[in-house]
Amino acid sequence: MQSTFAERIPPWPRFDTTDEEGLRDVLHSRRWWRGNGVAGDEFEAAFAAQLGVRHVRVVANGTLALELALDALGVEPGDEVIVPACTFISTASAVLRIGAWPVPVDVERTTLNIDPQAVEAAITSRTKCIIPVHMAGHAVNMPALLEIARRHRLVILEDAAHCHGARAFGAALGALGEASIFSFQAGKLLTCGEGGAVATNNAAIAERTFALHSCGRPKGDTDYVHLMPATNMRLTEFQSAILRCQLARLPEQCAQREKSAPFFEERLRDAGLEPLSREPYVDIHGRYMVMAWFDPSEFGGRDAGEISAELRKLGIPAYRCFPEIHRSGMFASDILHKPLRSNRSAPAYDRINTPVAGQAAREVIWFHHSLLLGDEELLADIAAAVGDLRQPMARAPTVARAIA
Ligand SMILES: Cc1ncc(COP(=O)(O)O)c(C=O)c1O
Repeated sequence: MQSTFAERIPPWPRFDTTDEEGLRDVLHSRRWWRGNGVAGDEFEAAFAAQLGVRHVRVVANGTLALELALDALGVEPGDEVIVPACTFISTASAVLRIGAWPVPVDVERTTLNIDPQAVEAAITSRTKCIIPVHMAGHAVNMPALLEIARRHRLVILEDAAHCHGARAFGAALGALGEASIFSFQAGKLLTCGEGGAVATNNAAIAERTFALHSCGRPKGDTDYVHLMPATNMRLTEFQSAILRCQLARLPEQCAQREKSAPFFEERLRDAGLEPLSREPYVDIHGRYMVMAWFDPSEFGGRDAGEISAELRKLGIPAYRCFPEIHRSGMFASDILHKPLRSNRSAPAYDRINTPVAGQAAREVIWFHHSLLLGDEELLADIAAAVGDLRQPMARAPTVARAIA
């Protein structure tokens, strides 16, 4: 019997005996807690070195890393933070959680990255920060964004949840803004099941992140010193030990994904899809997702949710693109006004128009990076399975033919 796609796609996450040894070391050390362990410190130093930044702070997940970074950067209730309309909800919900207003702007069709022109048009006197997301692992045009930020005195917080190991403009993604965040959730390119990090070159921000992620206590405190109201976002030492091992295999996996992706994208083109582009300034694409546009009229009128659900039934890890964030239930006006700590009024979310992000939600699907670690036969078969879903819809007759 022909094996199913689920059996053929390489399992993710990957591990070997080094992960087991790392876990066992922490277990036997009995230092399971960030307060007395060394695994967190070791991973932070190793990841900082790989990124080429001075400081990394590991936390419980990427969503909290966003909240922590915004707080440490000095974003305050009532401030506006510009975000792409096409992203996972945390990029915007973290802004709401600290009492500020996310301002969604449209993305570029070719990369689904934030559109610098749309950013510039959305800046007001209340804008404090811009959060570009390196969508699917493809670098945002950071020089253009940094120039806008410089002119308007704004800070840039890179959302690097999708781009571990990626590089552009001669630097690692996540090392170009004032600070950046990463996610180590189970599907990510670098993972420990759940986890996140804030990276920065700014020592003052890094120091604030420690107390802010640890109940307000400075590093090394044993005297119940609590410098500010803060919550507990600490990562366990077990997770840091796994991250250390995962980091060691990241470059090789990045190289393998970079090698496979053009072949897979070419086969997807044969199947009638239009993969996102790769800008010439990209040195290493993270390849967290392979994203591609399709024309619903070529696929029986089905949208991205329907097509991806059919592919998942075959065991192919395919998903719809993110819905426009401001169409999410959390932006309903009766809900929005409850958690806020500011009396500044909300942007008119129902009037924000982001047509590319809206179209992407219906006409873009993405494939999980695990399949890029498979062989070309697998990739060709997956693309062929996509092609099998093609069902061109009958076109309405032209006026001339209708009259004849
Ligand atoms: C762009 C982006 N930012 C932030 C996050 C949040 O990360 P986490 O799931 O670790 O909270 C995600 C999660 O997938 C994401 O895709």
